[in-house]
Amino acid sequence: MAKHDKIDVGISTILNPVPVVMVSCCGKEPEKESDRPNIITIAWAGTVNSEPPMVSVSIRKSRHSHILISETGEFVVNLVNKQLAKPCDLCGVKSGADIDKFKTCGLNAVKAEGLDYAYAIKEAPVSLSCKVVSVTELGSHDMFVAKVVAVTADSYLLDDKGKICLDNANLVAYNHGEYFLLGKKIGFFGYSLASEEILRRRLGD
Ligand SMILES: Cc1cc2nc3c(=O)[nH]c(=O)nc-3n(C[C@H](O)[C@H](O)[C@H](O)COP(=O)(O)O)c2cc1C
Repeated sequence: MAKHDKIDVGISTILNPVPVVMVSCCGKEPEKESDRPNIITIAWAGTVNSEPPMVSVSIRKSRHSHILISETGEFVVNLVNKQLAKPCDLCGVKSGADIDKFKTCGLNAVKAEGLDYAYAIKEAPVSLSCKVVSVTELGSHDMFVAKVVAVTADSYLLDDKGKICLDNANLVAYNHGEYFLLGKKIGFFGYSLASEEILRRRLGD
């Protein structure tokens, strides 16, 4: 067969790569074990609007985090870097109903900017505070669509003009069941139309 001859590989969610994020959340009474700050790993996350900035996360009803987020209408999307890859995986295979994932992973919960209940992960390079605006039952998952009400980033990610440089964040992507560290920059928005000089300056050789 020739390389581009097509084979039906079955219907699935093979859209890849996707971000993998650590979504932190908390109940209304964090001193109670069932309401303590929690982290769920989510691969079904996406940006769904620019103005206002909005994201979605799809969560199965069976997840402990589903209860917490439904109760408060709040969560924090924490981006995952190389250092957080293992904790991220652990938060995706253990339930907050059984263990304290912040404690188990050695992570610190810090009050999330702009929210009343949810905590952010201190060790995450970037955290998006989110308020739920709608919940849609899709089948296996419920999709929580939320407004981003604040974003915080580690100071080392800002350049001298205050611009966030995510190139330096060592971010992780999820590709068909496996975690990958983002690799070499090969282009940028609109680079197909950029001059040779700009390409050299922004991409090197
Ligand atoms: C890489 C990865 C991605 C995941 N993505 C999702 C997801 O998008 N939605 C979901 O409901 N569960 C997802 N899970 C499973 C949950 O993270 C997992 O069931 C977790 O233990 C639930 O935690 P909780 O009970 O404390 O909420 C994922 C797990 C992993 C490892």
